[in-house]
Amino acid sequence: MNNEEISTQAAEIISSDREHIWHHLTPHNAFKNSDPLIIKSGIGMRVTDIKGTEYLDATSGGVWSVNVGYGRQSIANAVRDQLLEMCYFANSAGSIPGAQFAERLLQKMPEMQDADGGAKGKVYYSNSGSEANEKVYKIVRQLAHINGDGRRHKIIFRDRDYHGSTIGALSSTGHQQRKEQYGPFAPGFSEFAHCCCYRCPFGKTYGSCDIECAKDLETAILREGPDQVGAVVLEPITAGGGIIPPVPEYFPIIQAICKKYAVLLHIDEVVCGLGRTGKWFGYQHYDVKPDLVTMAKGLASGYAAISCTVATDAVFNQFAAEDAGTLDYFRDISTFGGCTGGPAAGLANMDIIEEENLLDNVVQMGEHLKDRLFGLQEKYPVIGDVRGKGFFAGVELVSDRITKQPMHESYLMKIVAHCMAQGVLVGRTNRSFTEFNNNLCLSPALIASRRDIDDIVDAIDHALADNPL
Ligand SMILES: Cc1ncc(COP(=O)(O)O)c(C=O)c1O
Repeated sequence: MNNEEISTQAAEIISSDREHIWHHLTPHNAFKNSDPLIIKSGIGMRVTDIKGTEYLDATSGGVWSVNVGYGRQSIANAVRDQLLEMCYFANSAGSIPGAQFAERLLQKMPEMQDADGGAKGKVYYSNSGSEANEKVYKIVRQLAHINGDGRRHKIIFRDRDYHGSTIGALSSTGHQQRKEQYGPFAPGFSEFAHCCCYRCPFGKTYGSCDIECAKDLETAILREGPDQVGAVVLEPITAGGGIIPPVPEYFPIIQAICKKYAVLLHIDEVVCGLGRTGKWFGYQHYDVKPDLVTMAKGLASGYAAISCTVATDAVFNQFAAEDAGTLDYFRDISTFGGCTGGPAAGLANMDIIEEENLLDNVVQMGEHLKDRLFGLQEKYPVIGDVRGKGFFAGVELVSDRITKQPMHESYLMKIVAHCMAQGVLVGRTNRSFTEFNNNLCLSPALIASRRDIDDIVDAIDHALADNPL
C-alpha cells in the first residue's frame, strides 16, 4: 500500500471502530478528541498501528499475554493445520492436541504430582482466566457438598489480588475500583492482607517482622470459621495489584496454615504461568505445593484463547464417583474448552520457549531490567519502590519518598503517554484502587534482548526527566 492508501484505510477503520467497538477498560469520551489505537501488525517485540507507527511493546500485548512475541509462523501453522484436521468438538470427548498439551503441561508441574510419580494431576480446559478460576470455585463448593453438608464453601483471597471479571471471580478480587458499581457480589468470599513489604499492612519492616501478612490467612480462616473455609486463592506474584512478589518465607507459612485447617491452596498463574518470571510457573520460585492451579494468558501467547484449571489427583479423585447414578462428578462445561486451536497453539508455544531457551533469557535479562530500574530509582525520587521477578517488573511512583504518598494516576498516564510518543508501550496499574494506581508495569515478551530492555528503560528515563514534580 502507498501512503495515501494507508491513510485512507486508517481513516475508514478508525471511523468504523469509533462507531462500533466498545473497548475494554476505556472511558470512551477519550475518543472524542483522540483516535483509538488500532494495532495492525506485529513481529517479535514490535507492533505497528494502522497509521504505520511502530512501537516496542513492553507489555506483551497490553496485558502480559504474548510471551513468545508476535508473528510466530510455527504457532500459526500448528493452529491452521489443527483447525483443518479437527477444529472443535465438545470436551466431553477428547482431542489429540488436548491430550498432548495436558500431558506436557503436567510434566512442567512436578509439585502437583506424587513423589513416586503415581498421581499426575488433571487438566480442565476453558477459555479465559476468569473462567478457569470460576471452575475452581465450583470445585470447592461441590467438594463441600460431596464431603459434607456444603458448609465448607468459603474462599479467602487477598485484598490486592485480581482474579477476573466475571461475578464470581470479581467477588474474589480485592480491587475496589474494579468492583465499584458491579455489586452485589457472590457470598462466601472473604479478604485477607496483601504482602507488599513497601506498604506493610502491619506497619512492620522485613527482617524484623514475623511475616504477619502470611499469618493473616489464619486470622481470616478463624474469623470465617474453619469448618466453613474450603480454599484460599493467591497470585504467586500479585500482578494488576502492583507487581508484588512475596518474601521467601511467605508461601511455606501459607502452606502450613492450609494444611492445619485442611484448606485447599489455589494458585492463580493466569499472568505468571509459562515463563514470565523465569520459571514455568511463578509458584515454582517458592517452596509450595498447590492443590489447584489456574492459567491462561501466556499459555498460548494469545495465538488462541485457552485456559486451564489444573487439579491434583487428590482433588480430582474426590469427584470420581463409582456410582454413575450420583451427581458427585464435576457437572461443568465450557463450550470453547473444546476448541483444539488452544492446545495446538500451546504445544507450539512451549516448543518455542524450550528451543530458544527463553526461561534462561528471562532470568538473565530480568536481572538487567531490575538493575536498570534500580539505577533509575537512584536518579528519580519519584520512584519509591522497584519490585518483580524476571520479565515482570513494577515501578511504584510516589509524590513524596518519606511519606510514600502514592503518585496520582494522572501522572502515570503522562509517563505512559510520553513513552508511547517515544515509540515504547509501557503498562501501568489502571483504575484498580482508590489510591494505589501508581505502578508502572513492565512485562516484555520472553524474547526481549538487552537492547530492548535498555530502550524500554531509556524511554521511562526520558519521560521522568521531562515530567519533574
Ligand atoms: C491474576 C489474574 N487472574 C485472572 C485474570 C482474568 O483473566 P481473563 O481476563 O482471561 O478472564 C487476570 C486478568 O488480568 C489476572 O491478572
